[in-house]
Amino acid sequence: MAPFNSTPQSRPHHLPAFRRKEGPPKKKKKFRTMKDVMKTAKRVAIPREDYSKLTCKICGSGEKDEEMLLCDGCDNGFHMMCLRPVVVRVPIGSWYCNKCHDHHPTPVVKKFTQRKIMDFFRIQKSAMKCISPEVSRRQRKRTRPLVLQKKSRKLLPYIPTEDHNRRSKQMESLASALINLKLEFSNELTYFLGMAPKSANQSKFESDGMQVMSKEDMRTLEKCKAMSERGEYPPLTVVFDALEGYTVEVDAPIKHMTFVAEYTGDVDYIRNRANDDCDSMMTLLLASDPLKSLLICPDKRGNITRFINGINNHTEEGRKKQNLKCVRYSVKGECRVFLVASRNIGKGERLYYNYNGYENAYPTHHFV
Ligand SMILES: C[S@@+](CC[C@H](N)C(=O)[O-])C[C@H]1O[C@@H](n2cnc3c(N)ncnc32)[C@H](O)[C@@H]1O
Ligand SMILES: [Zn+2]
Ligand SMILES: [Zn+2]
Repeated sequence: MAPFNSTPQSRPHHLPAFRRKEGPPKKKKKFRTMKDVMKTAKRVAIPREDYSKLTCKICGSGEKDEEMLLCDGCDNGFHMMCLRPVVVRVPIGSWYCNKCHDHHPTPVVKKFTQRKIMDFFRIQKSAMKCISPEVSRRQRKRTRPLVLQKKSRKLLPYIPTEDHNRRSKQMESLASALINLKLEFSNELTYFLGMAPKSANQSKFESDGMQVMSKEDMRTLEKCKAMSERGEYPPLTVVFDALEGYTVEVDAPIKHMTFVAEYTGDVDYIRNRANDDCDSMMTLLLASDPLKSLLICPDKRGNITRFINGINNHTEEGRKKQNLKCVRYSVKGECRVFLVASRNIGKGERLYYNYNGYENAYPTHHFV
């Protein structure tokens, strides 16, 4: 797969049982058990709002009310699939439509000083000196000749943009998008107390086994890791699209089989996230024992991969858009997820992959 999804089982958001009123903190009262309260409680009829005539503010239809969200700001109804970007799971807690939410439907890309960019991406000061165009050009001459690369099915390292201004723009677009979603940048899998420990991520638990990354591909991976630690990222920009939300655009041609990025975020058990709102969760491990299955959850930390959109699996046009494949590999016994170019990708193209690579759980019918 890709972003993990389960059928929403929680109480549909469109029929709130009550709305909580906020007021000044009250003095603590003596504790009474619910039984005591019920003994003296009088029966009252709670007036309920009538949602039977609710129609979608976008398409005007009142059908499929089980897929209708009710905005906590303006009280209007919206079909999850009529919203842009499409909402695939019933949100947990309050939900606001684009008009009511923050009043910023189109997020802006902020300008950052070089110091801020270095802090945000945790780039070493000494490393920034290595990214002069001269060094990059010299490095590239030492790579294998083009003919060999064409025949090979091996992973190729991405080629970062040399132009400093364009590189800054790419980093600013990613930093702005992450900050807007209140996410920290992290280019590796992270493990935290209360979630799955690192020891849970073992490829030997995968039910049908997992392909092992070759030594040569591991060297490519290490090369890309070293580049990213120096602040040399793949030539990608995060842009905001009215229909698709955030999406990732290619800033320079990327060859077929190029390693684009690793899918990163906090590792957690699937069982812990059954009712989670995050629409960017990625399958990491499908164990024979489902209790051991793992997800990558970029809800607090993540990188550019959580902004890459999916193809519509149900149309020919959708399938034609795919230019990335999502592959899971065992690297030194640990499961990892990588995004690799599945064909040559031109400058200006947007990146897309199939969200339903492993399980057919993600509803993409309404994807553009
Ligand atoms: C992994 S996130 C991708 C980034 C997302 N667009 C954003 O703004 O954060 C997955 C979500 O993006 C949206 N999305 C992804 N692909 C899409 C597509 N082809 N058309 C419309 N929305 C899409 C859906 O809302 C989906 O739940
Ligand atoms: Zn609608
Ligand atoms: Zn609203």
